[in-house]
Amino acid sequence: MSNNRDILVDNHGRRINYLRLAVTDRCNLRCFYCMPEEGIKYVDRTDLMSYEEMLRLLKVLAAVGVNKVRITGGEPFVRKGLEDFITRLNAVEGITDIRLTTNGTVSQKLISDFRRMGIKGVNLSLDSLDRERFFNITRRDLLPQVLDSLEALNQSEIPVKINTVVMAGRNTRDVIPLAELARTQADEVRFIEEMPFNGSEGLPNPENWDHIRILQELKEHFPDMQRQPMNFGDTAVRYSVPGFKGKLGIIAAYSRTFCGSCNRIRLTPTGTVKTCLYDSGVFNIRDLMREGATDKQIETAVREAVGNRARNGHEAEKNRFSNGSIQESMSTIGG
Ligand code: 5AD
Ligand code: SF4
Repeated sequence: MSNNRDILVDNHGRRINYLRLAVTDRCNLRCFYCMPEEGIKYVDRTDLMSYEEMLRLLKVLAAVGVNKVRITGGEPFVRKGLEDFITRLNAVEGITDIRLTTNGTVSQKLISDFRRMGIKGVNLSLDSLDRERFFNITRRDLLPQVLDSLEALNQSEIPVKINTVVMAGRNTRDVIPLAELARTQADEVRFIEEMPFNGSEGLPNPENWDHIRILQELKEHFPDMQRQPMNFGDTAVRYSVPGFKGKLGIIAAYSRTFCGSCNRIRLTPTGTVKTCLYDSGVFNIRDLMREGATDKQIETAVREAVGNRARNGHEAEKNRFSNGSIQESMSTIGG
């Protein structure tokens, strides 16, 4: 365990205790806000961080106070050996909170093992309950599989959050039906502003709803909803609704209203550390490891990156070394 002196704190006084770990850039869906129809150019498998390398990094990070890990992608379950990796991650001293973000289309059979693997909660991406609109958004006809996963998660009593990206002309009429899932089937249903990470230069639709418009829609249908206090590191503003088991959440991912309490860093599938979703990568841990760096050198490199963090996502975006236009796909960043 870490003592206070060792703890990872950034140059704006924000404590970092959370790593978002993208284990693959591959995915079996083609959500249009994440990838073009033909997909993206996937990286070679040899360029991926190996599970060994990821475990090594997590041991180094756990020693400086990182206790929470979210496994993401791409779709994490398209990478072979993930279950074994998670089980081993769960054995790393200091890692107490392993979570997973998945599209729920390939992992149905594994869900009954999630608790044993140490998974504390799952975020399920789901943008529509209408099969045709689901198909139009993801370009795959797999809504029934996602709903099976939701049911299996409920049966296993794994806390579930639904992540919905709200898009003009695509799924605004799904907002209320999806919110209804918080009545009995979800611990939280979160509505997310679309971000410009669709694997091409195309910008999100300017008609898209922002967090204020999303709130207006929810309030119209749930006039008694009550705003909840926020905790450090939260990105969602949460609301309770009388009679609902779960909360409703709004994530201003594009407006970036929550950066002041950001507690996370990210690792891309190829080992690039990002200290903000909107930066273009700070340094590469895989390369350091493969060049023979010691654990201490890895820790020092992480500390340096964290010590030079942008204040917020707007500043990080401005500092991108390219011409500023974003062509990344969310699946290569880690959603
Ligand atoms: N804007 C907002 N959210 C996105 N996600 C993927 N791409 C985008 C984007 N461009 C979300 C997915 C999923 C999580 C991994 O990130 O819906 O819930
Ligand atoms: Fe796959 Fe998630 Fe990207 Fe959709 S948003 S294509 S499910 S990685």
